[in-house]
Amino acid sequence: MRDLRVSVTDRCNFRCTYCMPRDAFGPDHPFLSRHELLTYEQTARLVAIFAGLGVRKVRVTGGEPLLRRDLHRLVGMLAAIKPIEDLALTTNGVLLPEQAERLAEAGLNRVTVSLDSLDDNVLRRMVDVEVHVADVLAGIDAASDAGLGPVKINAVVRRGVNDHTIVDLVRHFRGTGHIVRLIEYMDVGTTNGWRLDEVVPAREMIERIGAEMPLEPIDPNYRGEVARRWRHRDGGGEIGIITSVTQPFCSACTRARLSPEGRLFTCLFASSGHDLRSLLNDGADDERLARSIREAWSAREDRYSEVRTQLTARGRRIEMSYIGG
Ligand code: GTP
Ligand code: 5AD
Ligand code: SF4
Repeated sequence: MRDLRVSVTDRCNFRCTYCMPRDAFGPDHPFLSRHELLTYEQTARLVAIFAGLGVRKVRVTGGEPLLRRDLHRLVGMLAAIKPIEDLALTTNGVLLPEQAERLAEAGLNRVTVSLDSLDDNVLRRMVDVEVHVADVLAGIDAASDAGLGPVKINAVVRRGVNDHTIVDLVRHFRGTGHIVRLIEYMDVGTTNGWRLDEVVPAREMIERIGAEMPLEPIDPNYRGEVARRWRHRDGGGEIGIITSVTQPFCSACTRARLSPEGRLFTCLFASSGHDLRSLLNDGADDERLARSIREAWSAREDRYSEVRTQLTARGRRIEMSYIGG
């Protein structure tokens, strides 16, 4: 366990069709209420315990984490946890212009921004809200100006929806130092109506981009890195491809996930989590919490993406908007 994703809310101001489709996440959706969420103090206490068990990378995610009030306060508390070497945030970017500076001051190291296309109409089809590409680009610039760059830019690729715009996206960010990461559309959750024929395999993405901008593969930055790295042969920087469908990477996974109300999930595709919040509420000491986390982690057998093809689409999986990417 090296990497912890901390989801701070299950709410979002976008309705990405692959993540929070509007018909499943309408006004009547039972989002968590405020008193169900871990407080920042509780979250920071748990993260410190995770750090004691080996976690060195922390990513704050959601939902849209910047919707949580005064998120920089949590960031400051997490940045003060000594063993943590890397503190990152995943966001849809539109609230970054107001918040980037205070997040950086609080100790955030870097951000990943979701941006599925540079074409306004295509983006709106993907995220299903009235947003302009320029709003997201302004967020990326704000992060970069605040020292939170180079920014990673996540694009989920769906055949027939945005795949014809990925070459543009890569071209736009070539030479900027920012890193575009193209993600194979995944069957997370149970609401997005995922179909295999909408997945554009990594190999095909590389071929399409390589036809215009020659690429070569490069070594991972660290063992178990999610994205496979490719670099522009002309020195224009690198891109990443996340091949969770066609070349799963479960065997090297060191990621644990903490939900907004304090459940520990050992896989993005898990159907249930381990309740740490009840332990907190019962007054458990750090030792007891650490034991519970260790037990859950040692019992872990998750390798969903590797066995996906043998499973049917049955069963209840948690939603990405609840547990984060
Ligand atoms: P760095 O810390 O910058 O290396 O980021 P990362 O590579 O960990 O990337 P990030 O957290 O942004 O994850 C990118 C995307 O990969 C996520 O949004 C998910 O779509 C996918 N992903 C991350 N972790 C997992 C995982 O455990 N399983 C699967 N199947 N997909 C994952
Ligand atoms: N498949 C792949 N990636 C997804 N994300 C959300 N839902 C999916 C999905 N079904 C990505 C978003 C965001 C990150 C948090 O997870 O693009 O960048
Ligand atoms: Fe919101 Fe991110 Fe999910 Fe889109 S992918 S709906 S921005 S949580």
